[in-house]
Amino acid sequence: MSSLVRVETQDGVAVIAVDNPPVNALSVGVPDGIIAALAAGAADPGIDAFVLLGAGRTFIAGADIREFGKPRPPGARTIFDLIAALEASPKPVVAAIHGTALGGGLEVALACHWRVGVEGSQYGLPEVKLGILPGAGGTQRLPRLIGVEPAAKLIVSGDFVPARKALALGIVDALVEGDLAAAGTAFARQVVAEGRPLRLVRDMNDKLAVPDGFFDEMRRSIARSGRGQVAPWRCIDCVEAAATLPVDQGLKRERELFEECLASPQSKALRHFFFAEREVAKIPDVPKDTPTRPVAKAAVIGAGTMGGGIAMTFANAGIPVTLIETGQEALDRGLATMRANYARTVASGRMPQATMDKAMGLVVGTLDLGAVADADIVIEAVFEDMAVKKDLFGRLDDIAKADAILATNTSTLDVDEIAAATRRPEKVIGTHFFSPANVMRLLEVVRGAKTDKSTIASTMALARPLKKVAVLVGVCDGFVGNRMLAGYMQQALFLLEEGCLPQDVDKALYDFGFAMGPFAMMDLAGNDVEWRIRKHREKTKPPPADLRRSALPDLLCEAGRFGQKTAAGWYRYEPGDRTPHPDPTVETMIVENSARIGMRRRAIGADEIVRRCLLPLINEGARILDEGLALRPGDIDVIWVYGYGFPSYKGGPMFHADQIGLPDVLAQLLRLESEQGRFWTPSPLIVRLAEAGQGFSSLKVG
Ligand SMILES: NC(=O)c1ccc[n+]([C@@H]2O[C@H](COP(=O)([O-])OP(=O)(O)OC[C@H]3O[C@@H](n4cnc5c(N)ncnc54)[C@H](O)[C@@H]3O)[C@@H](O)[C@H]2O)c1
Repeated sequence: MSSLVRVETQDGVAVIAVDNPPVNALSVGVPDGIIAALAAGAADPGIDAFVLLGAGRTFIAGADIREFGKPRPPGARTIFDLIAALEASPKPVVAAIHGTALGGGLEVALACHWRVGVEGSQYGLPEVKLGILPGAGGTQRLPRLIGVEPAAKLIVSGDFVPARKALALGIVDALVEGDLAAAGTAFARQVVAEGRPLRLVRDMNDKLAVPDGFFDEMRRSIARSGRGQVAPWRCIDCVEAAATLPVDQGLKRERELFEECLASPQSKALRHFFFAEREVAKIPDVPKDTPTRPVAKAAVIGAGTMGGGIAMTFANAGIPVTLIETGQEALDRGLATMRANYARTVASGRMPQATMDKAMGLVVGTLDLGAVADADIVIEAVFEDMAVKKDLFGRLDDIAKADAILATNTSTLDVDEIAAATRRPEKVIGTHFFSPANVMRLLEVVRGAKTDKSTIASTMALARPLKKVAVLVGVCDGFVGNRMLAGYMQQALFLLEEGCLPQDVDKALYDFGFAMGPFAMMDLAGNDVEWRIRKHREKTKPPPADLRRSALPDLLCEAGRFGQKTAAGWYRYEPGDRTPHPDPTVETMIVENSARIGMRRRAIGADEIVRRCLLPLINEGARILDEGLALRPGDIDVIWVYGYGFPSYKGGPMFHADQIGLPDVLAQLLRLESEQGRFWTPSPLIVRLAEAGQGFSSLKVG
């Protein structure tokens, strides 16, 4: 018997337990173990039925992603062999499910005759999130079990279903309580006692009818969210096959489409991203067992755009938060904005009123800075002004608990300089939230020169309850995300000077897969914000006179076009509507500007637009890696997917660069450098890796 599978007999029922921690993945050896147990039990007259369950914290949580696409050792049985053995079992098999039954795990459960689950268990076929589809019969069996419509929704979205909903849908036959093996055994005994005929999901055909046009409508519904992707469309094709073909043909079709998805670059990219997202928590010099400081109470200073969103993030996590302002009016405005944001979510049906009331009940507004005294973390989100921040941190130092985390949400200022305003720079850290802070998943955690390990570990750990993805970065201008963004935006502007209009650039990058193009993004964020920063920098840190820069964003702001907030920016907007409409006034401004600077406008294709905007990302990302300001290329990818809407199915800018091939990236940079100058000078890391025939993925950490 395989060491990954244990069998115990209870009351004439063989309880087969998969014991492959941490998540009982279907690694090599697991199918063999279960198949052997089924065979032994079939031959044993003392066994009437089987219960299949997971040891430890979960049922089979899925396939072993690390084994994808790798050859199996000769003779090792697959999930297909396992499913065939389950369906061929002459004695009833009951899957008893706790934890999660996902992907291959759920597909195995669907091959059992019955399924029972416990409260708190979760079900899903999330393969689409890895750019593939459920390839072991999930797309054929789930529609047969619960009906085509709910199955299609689950398979195409990859969403999880909680236990009660799984019961209502019919994914499980019953919810059970108490010891799982005992409850599963009791269910199996009942099946035997009642002499129920074995029930195979593959033979169920009574739930396959769909309304006319169902699949067309389904495809229309993912036109936007699934654009450019392969897997969601193939998922629909598979469910359509389930509804229209005999089961064996449907299974064959599923297999073909699975292979197509698995071989696609998108699936490779999404698997990379899956691991990158899990890797960000690993910090070589901050080991896993570094003591962390629990955060039971938070204080946020400044109730503006960011402060309000950050306070909502804490309240949503059930952590009481004090919101501190300098004036009553600003405080009232901040609290009212938060309330209005929640109310919108409630009105849309996505949040119960009680949840809003509970969250708002955790927020206390005050004008008294002394209120930070009982906070475990203080997050500063006041004006982006070094003098204001230093003064504030000096005062916080006198009031906050000795071991409190003192965090700044600055997006451009030097965290070390802010830390130096306190007597405890080791407790100071950057928490760079993205706007809107209650929505955006990314959190750049900025490690200062003196930040201690416990402060880093505690802040990174806080990401989990806050439902953020935290990525550790070092101190530099713009940190990682915005530093890379600068070159991307600059090229977008130069493209306007050379012949494009905002809608051309935005369309090319939207079609590449970005959530939105750079000009729509600037209009959303407010063009005046950068304008103010630019004017300040011109005084404090003037750029070299020979550096190419575009006058367009200044011209736009001088015309009062701040973006959505003024209903006019790079686009025009109808009142109360966020849809960008191309504006002839902007076109005139752009064309006149080109004439003024002596630029002959030319037609520029989407390929060139994408190349011009992405290469600076890759080049700057490489410099950031070389300077040690991000730990891994994958960390940069996570920042760009969660912070800037880079398509996850292209893996992030660094993974994408490897897909292009660094020698090719280098050649493109060198060509642009010879045409346009030193903006394009390749980073030394790209030169080194390209010459060695390697990619970013070859970089080792720690
Ligand atoms: N807006 C963004 O997209 C964004 C994104 C990331 C980071 N940030 C950073 O977050 C910080 C806040 O930005 P914002 O956009 O929310 O600004 P904001 O102008 O909307 O809000 C700042 C608030 O701080 C209050 N304030 C100023 N001094 C204070 C003090 N001493 N004590 C208490 N309150 C004080 C102001 O009254 C104002 O309400 C800045 O450092 C900014 O760089 C902003």
